[in-house]
Amino acid sequence: MITGKTHLADVVNANPAILSVLERLGIRLGFHEATIEEVCSRYNLSSLLLTDICNIYSRDGYEPRADSLSIQDIKRLIGYLKTSHSYYSQNSLPKLHEKIHLLLEEGDRNNARILHKFYDDYDEEINRHFRFEEDMVFPFLESLLDGNKNNIAPFDLHLFAENHTNMEDKLSDLKNTILKYLPDGYSQSLRTEILKDIYSLEEDLAKHTEIEDRLLVPSISRLLSDAVSKNAEDEKSTEDSEPESTLSQREKDIVAEVAKGLTNKEIADRLNLSIHTVTTHRKNISRKTGINSISGITVYAIINKLVDLNDLK
Ligand SMILES: [Fe+2]
Ligand SMILES: [Fe+2]
Repeated sequence: MITGKTHLADVVNANPAILSVLERLGIRLGFHEATIEEVCSRYNLSSLLLTDICNIYSRDGYEPRADSLSIQDIKRLIGYLKTSHSYYSQNSLPKLHEKIHLLLEEGDRNNARILHKFYDDYDEEINRHFRFEEDMVFPFLESLLDGNKNNIAPFDLHLFAENHTNMEDKLSDLKNTILKYLPDGYSQSLRTEILKDIYSLEEDLAKHTEIEDRLLVPSISRLLSDAVSKNAEDEKSTEDSEPESTLSQREKDIVAEVAKGLTNKEIADRLNLSIHTVTTHRKNISRKTGINSISGITVYAIINKLVDLNDLK
């Protein structure tokens, strides 16, 4: 098990994939015999966060302790995940594309078309997933971390993990086609290089998803449940007759339509209601959930399975 006392160089020697983690965290090489704790203190980084990430990378099935990360650590973790997204979409994926292009330049046109299609589908799907997290999930979580009480809603964040699209299938189709089915006649060395790139990308993305599911989601869940129970205590103490927090079926319908990007007028038409009624429902939804923004409502709808990801604009 990797701890704060482990030498960082030993961690990298045991698992070179950690090199990418260090790069994304801005930790420069040349750390001599320093332990994780020593390196982290130089970079004003929590050693708990780095040990958790290293353990997820190095130990299959590692379960981090959800209560160990502070709000500051979770913000840094979200920053790390964003940097990883840019690394994948601006570095790993374009490089892979370039090599695939080069490999297919000479061969059969049909093979080229099929493989390019595999690649393009995969590229589109994974970038859509990154955009969803960056435009909706991360800003919402960041505002929660900043203590924006208005955004605190009693939803089950574990459903977010369930919503994590499995993006590995398409990459695996591409890999198997290049490995098993592409006929002889293509550059063997380039083909091998592409496969090695795909294997390491696959592994890295699987770890990225594990970090989101096993570290980010449980840590935020813990903060949320703390906040919700604190809210409940506050409410009790004021003895106010606060409105119940569950949404009616009609309100859930409206949440789903808002998430799909419909205006109040469009929602009124679709659900056969007056605009005034829709506006009243919208106000009640905000009051009950504490969520005001459209992106917040969208995340709420997704996490509570009121809308399908595919129905979003
Ligand atoms: Fe992500
Ligand atoms: Fe993700």
